Amino acid sequence: MNRSSDREHIEGEKRSAVSRAAPSHAVAAQSSASHAPLWHGRFTEGPDADAVAFETSIHVDSRMAADDIRGSRAHAAMLGRTGIIPESEAAAIAEELQKIAGELERGELEIDTSAEDIHSFIEGILTDRLGDAGRRVHTGRSRNDQIALDERLYLRRAIPALQRELLGLLKTLTAIASEHTETLLSGYTHLQRAQPVTLAHHLCAWCWMLTRDSGRLSDALSRRRTSPLGAGALAGSGLPLDRKSAADELGFSGVTENSLDTVADRDYCIEITAALSILMTHLSRFCEEIVLWATEEFGFIRLSEKWSTGSSIMPQKKNPDFAELIRGRTGRVYGDLIALLTLMKGLPLSYNRDMQEDKQSLFDAYDTALSCVTVFDSMIASVSWNTERMAASCTGGHANATDLADYLVRKGMPFRTAHGVAASAVRYCVDNGINLEDMPLEELRARSPLIDGDIFEKLTPAACVAARDLPGGPNPARVREQLAALNTFIAETERSLPPAE
Ligand code: ARG
Repeated sequence: MNRSSDREHIEGEKRSAVSRAAPSHAVAAQSSASHAPLWHGRFTEGPDADAVAFETSIHVDSRMAADDIRGSRAHAAMLGRTGIIPESEAAAIAEELQKIAGELERGELEIDTSAEDIHSFIEGILTDRLGDAGRRVHTGRSRNDQIALDERLYLRRAIPALQRELLGLLKTLTAIASEHTETLLSGYTHLQRAQPVTLAHHLCAWCWMLTRDSGRLSDALSRRRTSPLGAGALAGSGLPLDRKSAADELGFSGVTENSLDTVADRDYCIEITAALSILMTHLSRFCEEIVLWATEEFGFIRLSEKWSTGSSIMPQKKNPDFAELIRGRTGRVYGDLIALLTLMKGLPLSYNRDMQEDKQSLFDAYDTALSCVTVFDSMIASVSWNTERMAASCTGGHANATDLADYLVRKGMPFRTAHGVAASAVRYCVDNGINLEDMPLEELRARSPLIDGDIFEKLTPAACVAARDLPGGPNPARVREQLAALNTFIAETERSLPPAE
């Protein structure tokens, strides 16, 4: 290698190291930028190509293009209304932004990945087309309040889209449950057979967790109903902006109270990613159960072939990979949450560029959770339920021992004494290899004369389930009440969500 090719090689290596550190799409930013950075006026030198590649966020924030345009239209309209810029120019800006939005949507305008971010790209296009009018759009605004606005507008449409998927999953689960209010199944604690329940009761348990997930997402959004526009870079603006009217136009309930807090706040990213992490915990636990239930040992379910995979070496295998992948991707969403918490923990007021990294984690958590909910829904909808195996799980484990004790309590025996009688009966059954319901009456009576021949009808799994007739219990009528409450939740949440955009 001669000296010059040596140097080229080293330069090339350095450049690719920078590109590796920067996200992959950023490589395109090494090509000559079509627009100078918005801040170039202060500088005599242009930025190093590697520096641009490292700092750009357009590959991540371009998904908020429509939101950025929406925000800029409202801002420009407000500038026109207040006379800060000529009304005619405000109108021209609004019209051109609308055109740009349409062109982006139809794929006629390609996002230039050499731009520093989506804000710079849109402003650049606007200025190319309108000249001075385009140069007025950023009056009284900073990218610091602009990004806070874009994120809110994006989340306001993205989160309801995820909630709609969650409601779809809830509908699938409640539909399955409503067919299985009498399907007996052992309930477990410590993964040991505990007391009989029904498949419907069991599925409803997962449903309630998902209702809370949806509630947490609504809750996180509810704290972001105020508009950040007008917070500026950190200290508002000396121009007479009408924050309230821009907020009204964008459908906010008011304006944020403190400009420093507004540009420094990323609580909403953390709250939403925390809500998504808990949602993933639920899906992951459910998936663990699916993996268990699909085993030969449990055999409670059979996964459809459409939602199973095979083995490259063991021809007989049918594996629950989708459940395993969802369980695995849970770790990734937790990672996004930890990344966000760590990102924010040392930041002084107000905006710091570190905060640009929020979107990578937030969007990754969102995309991962959304795809997991969708896949889980299809996977669970295609399951066949082996109700015989489930019913068989209710016998043989002495899961009715509590019911024997309850029988004695109803006859006046103190519970602790009744527990002892039932335990002694279980001991007898274990020693003799029989089930509690097959124990000779005289053996039972030897332990308590309060036990009569009617005990046996009380010890069937169906009787054990029927006896648990309290709100929230597995009695089929009670589970039908749960299902009605879940359906009300689904309908009310559906009504409360904004229409899909
Ligand atoms: N892209 C930045 C972000 O996502 C917004 C731009 C603010 N940049 C700045 N140098 N103040 O947070």
